[in-house]
Amino acid sequence: MGRLIIVSNRVPAPRERNQPAGGLAVGLKDALRQGDALWFGWSGRQVPEMSGDPTPAIDRVGNVTYATIDLTTAQHTGFYQNFSNGILWPLFHYRVGLMNYSRLDWEMYLSVNAMFARTLRPLLRPDDTIWIHDYHLFPLGQALRDLGVKCRIGFFLHIPFPPWSLVRALPGAELLLEDMQAYDLVGVQTPEDAENLNHALRMNNMAERAQAFPIGIDPVEFRTQAETSMKGTEVSRLRDSLRGAALVLGVDRLDYSKGLPERFKGYEALLSRYPEHRGRVTFLQVAPISRGNVEEYRQLRCQLDELTGRINGAYSEFDWTPIRYITRPISRDVLAGFYRMADVALITPLRDGMNLVAKEYIAAQDPADPGVLILSHFAGAAPELDEAVLVNPYDTDEIADALHQALTMQRPERQTRWTALEKEVCRTTAVSWANDFLRALDGAPVCVSS
Ligand code: ADP
Ligand code: G6P
Repeated sequence: MGRLIIVSNRVPAPRERNQPAGGLAVGLKDALRQGDALWFGWSGRQVPEMSGDPTPAIDRVGNVTYATIDLTTAQHTGFYQNFSNGILWPLFHYRVGLMNYSRLDWEMYLSVNAMFARTLRPLLRPDDTIWIHDYHLFPLGQALRDLGVKCRIGFFLHIPFPPWSLVRALPGAELLLEDMQAYDLVGVQTPEDAENLNHALRMNNMAERAQAFPIGIDPVEFRTQAETSMKGTEVSRLRDSLRGAALVLGVDRLDYSKGLPERFKGYEALLSRYPEHRGRVTFLQVAPISRGNVEEYRQLRCQLDELTGRINGAYSEFDWTPIRYITRPISRDVLAGFYRMADVALITPLRDGMNLVAKEYIAAQDPADPGVLILSHFAGAAPELDEAVLVNPYDTDEIADALHQALTMQRPERQTRWTALEKEVCRTTAVSWANDFLRALDGAPVCVSS
């Protein structure tokens, strides 16, 4: 059997315990526990300049060989910061007004994709299967085909695919659709994303390629991690510090797609409209800084600093603080215990491809006394996790009502909801997601024969 070649911009550092936050790396790492694989992508490092193409650094850990390349500062700015995260990310999260379009950035995006293809090409064997991930690398399949690669190539988009009427706000958006033609199969997170992408392809007289494959986690491993973490010092310190108050937990990269200001205001509305919770609940938001050099992310950080200060200033008592807000990273092992301890998870993205945190929260619960998941309708996980308390994340009063409902929900209802949710989380795991996609890729009609 041939190898599986994974390509993504973000590659987890194979030997580090503390990984940067992000669903792509977490989901894929969980999925890659079997077979012989090569994972190719960016090293996470920038160098001022480079003569010619980079040479991949190779490291083998278990069944996976990691081959990573550095980017120059100019490539990092144009390809990663500006085009991927300043143009594609907002547009694909339905925030067309935040898109900062520039032709020069698109050129750098294409040139880095071509460079990825040239550096990956010599590592490939004819019987490999290639699986390319996410919006940084739309053109990579075609760039590999241009170099004569005939293997099966699949693509998976981890973020939403909005309706064509919105995507076409990107000048030359048709080129992204043309990029899809180089793939034998394109996977997206939800049936809505698949319908949007296939509709866009039809509108442009191109062949449909998209199918939904919702990504999952490794629930058994995560539950074990949560149980272990409960015995650790961090969880006891957190529990002691709460002094009996209920814990509402949010865990997200510090990203404007996550609906954090609306969430903080929703919590503020709880304190204002349901005063019985004052002093009896604590909201812990863990939001590690992400893409900190992109302007919109900086602005969001200022906004949240201001909101936290305002709400804490207005409602704190000398012995109680309503919001605890952490922008430093916390390791996933510790987080798993925090999830298990939390009475409520408040996960309210304005748009999200999937949202693995919601699935992790469910996996981490104690079946005898589970917490309540409050989830945005606009998370890709919502259709699967419809036994959660679903909210419109723009409606701060609805968030407040949902918090009140969750904080006062009796154990039998919490157990009934959790049992249904846990069944869903165990139904599509990281491994079954990868297997389903790869099986479909294997059976997909070959799209390129020359
Ligand atoms: P996104 O991919 O947009 O970041 P997801 O919810 O799908 O959103 O994935 C986030 C992943 O990153 C989860 O697996 C979560 O456990 C992990 N994560 C989030 N915050 C942290 C953190 N502070 N430290 C470590 N891992 C984190
Ligand atoms: C989302 C994207 C991933 C990305 C991750 C972290 O999950 O879909 O492609 O890796 O966020 O973002 P970063 O910019 O740090 O890679």
